[in-house]
Amino acid sequence: MAKIVIKKSPPLQGEVTVSTSKNAVLPIIAASILTDEDIIIYQTPKLTDVMYMLRILRGFGAYAKYEKGTLLINSRDIHRCEGLLNSVKRLRSSFLFMGPLLTKTGCVRMPMPGGCRIGIRPIDLHVRGLQRLGADIITKDGWVIGTAKRLKGTDIYLDYPSVGATENIMMAAVLAEGTTTIKNAASEPEIADLANFLNRMGARVGGAGTNNIRIRGVKRVKGTAYTPIPDRIEAGTMMMAGAINGGDIVIKNADLGHLTPLSSKLMEAGAEIHPLPDAVRVTCKRPLKAQSVTASPYPGFPTDLQAQFAALAATMRGTSIIMETVFENRFMYAAELIKMGADIRVEGRTAVVRGIDRLNGATVKATDLRAGAALILAGLAADNETVIEDIYHIDRGYEKIEEKLRILGADIVRI
Ligand code: UD1
Repeated sequence: MAKIVIKKSPPLQGEVTVSTSKNAVLPIIAASILTDEDIIIYQTPKLTDVMYMLRILRGFGAYAKYEKGTLLINSRDIHRCEGLLNSVKRLRSSFLFMGPLLTKTGCVRMPMPGGCRIGIRPIDLHVRGLQRLGADIITKDGWVIGTAKRLKGTDIYLDYPSVGATENIMMAAVLAEGTTTIKNAASEPEIADLANFLNRMGARVGGAGTNNIRIRGVKRVKGTAYTPIPDRIEAGTMMMAGAINGGDIVIKNADLGHLTPLSSKLMEAGAEIHPLPDAVRVTCKRPLKAQSVTASPYPGFPTDLQAQFAALAATMRGTSIIMETVFENRFMYAAELIKMGADIRVEGRTAVVRGIDRLNGATVKATDLRAGAALILAGLAADNETVIEDIYHIDRGYEKIEEKLRILGADIVRI
């Protein structure tokens, strides 16, 4: 099994380019089903989550070719509505096929989805939203089975602003008859990006990026070519990599407007953040002052940066309180950071992190995707050698992360 080995690294220096957003690309791949025409997606990151999504798409009978970052999809020949068991189980985003597939074929049969084990992650909001649009959906023996005639637009209120449910409902509503509104919708930038993509196909989606989305149904949508937004979570992870050892780095293809909660915390801690055109420069002198964060839906502090922030907080001066309100089981990384000497106490949805002078390298496990990124950050700052196991989690969402960090001077290899 591959591992990542990191030695204490000098302050990072230089320029690095962030990939296109995983969380934007995955729903866009699902949405491509809505047309019989060609969809081209540029700068698609080579991630295992993307490859599983394509495998499931091909399983439905669609054509998908990935070459050097360019993805060509044609869904004209889709003839099956059953998701491939093994791939669906590995990937929660597989459930995003539900809405588009119901629209396209009038049927869907998917095993309950998998993904990172960071909480119970139910799918009730997806199912209820699709039912409100007129689909018949039942769950039986671990499968979700749905049928639908032409869906009908309606008003939908989400009990919680779920990213995936908002996307699923939005995609299902594109070809529905009449107008759909989604109230208390999630407002993450990836949702606005999905809406931009759908509108480029000829859909009529308004308000995406706010909590109130309105979709006016159209009869058909067409092919298009699209480049999704940069990955704000990778950019945020790199910003903290720049900060953890007191570096000076430029992160290209980064939209600082999507990262305000992190950049403001880093500035309060003592780092300098300079916006540049399509880039951000992070300059940082140690030590940094402890900062408390609460992970919550956008525009709150992203839950997907919470673990990495805890790794940084473990090296800050003072005590940081880290609260998680999105997923109930997102502190599994704490036990691994503790093996590296971190002083972290977890109680329910709160982690109390007391900064220490030196972390120490250890053999640790990536318990999920973002936990893996947190361990890489800790490894950059820790004395001696850190060995990270189970790095397949990291490959789900970070493209060539060790190569990118090496460009900045980090002592990191994959073995
Ligand atoms: C997406 C992101 C993930 C991110 C998360 C929150 C993708 C591919 N993944 O995941 O990286 O961490 O948003 O920003 O974009 N919930 C329900 N019922 C549902 C759906 C969700 O109770 O039907 C709950 C979940 O258990 C969780 C919370 O809502 O506690 C947020 O989940 P959601 O916003 O749906 O996250 P994902 O779309 O799975």
